[in-house]
Amino acid sequence: MFITFEGPDGCGKSTILKEVYEKLIDLDISAIKTREPGGTRISEELRNIILDENNKELTAVTESLLMAASRSQHVEELIIPAINEKKIVLCDRFVISSLVYQGYARDLGIDKILKLNEFATLGTKPDMILFFDVTEENLLSRRKKRNTSDRLEKEELNFHKKVYKGYNYIKEKFQDDENFYIVDANKGISEITSYCISIILDNYRR
Ligand code: TYD
Repeated sequence: MFITFEGPDGCGKSTILKEVYEKLIDLDISAIKTREPGGTRISEELRNIILDENNKELTAVTESLLMAASRSQHVEELIIPAINEKKIVLCDRFVISSLVYQGYARDLGIDKILKLNEFATLGTKPDMILFFDVTEENLLSRRKKRNTSDRLEKEELNFHKKVYKGYNYIKEKFQDDENFYIVDANKGISEITSYCISIILDNYRR
C-alpha cells in the first residue's frame, strides 16, 4: 500500500507520519517511511539543490523539473520495489505538493504539472492520499514556533498565502476521489494519529 501525506508547511504531517509509522511497526506491519523531495541518495542530492537558499535564480520551470526528477528516481528505486514487497509505504509529500506549489502557487498550471508527474511517476498513484486540512490561523501560529528556513520557507508571505489557496483549490478538485482522505489537522497529535491509523487499517485489512 502506498500512502502519501500532503498539506502545507507546518500542518503537522511529518510528526503524524512518524507516529503512524511507529504504530504500524508496533503492530508488526511491515512499513517504511520516506519523504519528498528526497528518499534516495540521488533524490536527496536534488533536494539539496532545490532547497538551497543560495539558489535564488532557480526558475519555476527548473524547480518543477527537479521536483519531478527527484520523484521519478524515488518511485523507481524505492517506492515501486517496496510496494512489490507488500510493505506499507508512508511518504511525506508527493504529486499533490507539486500541483499546489509549482502548478498553482508558481502559476505553471495544474494540468501541465499533472502531465509532467504522470510521466515522472510511471503512472504510480497512491492508494491513499491523506490531506492535512488546517485553518490558516493555526498554520501561522505553528510556523512561528519553528525556526527552520529553506529556500521555499523563505518565500514572501504572499507566496504562502497562495500556497494555502492552492491547497483549498486542490481539496475541492479531488475531494470526491476514492483515494482522497481529508484529515482534520486542527486537532491534537494523538487524535489525528488515531484517525489516520484507523483509516489505514481499514484499507489494509480490506
Ligand atoms: P518538506 O520536506 O515538507 O519541508 P520541511 O522539511 O521544511 O517540512 O518540503 C520541502 C519544501 O518543498 C516545502 O516547502 C514544499 C516544497 N515542495 C514543492 O514545492 N513541490 C513538491 O513537489 C514537493 C514534494 C515539495
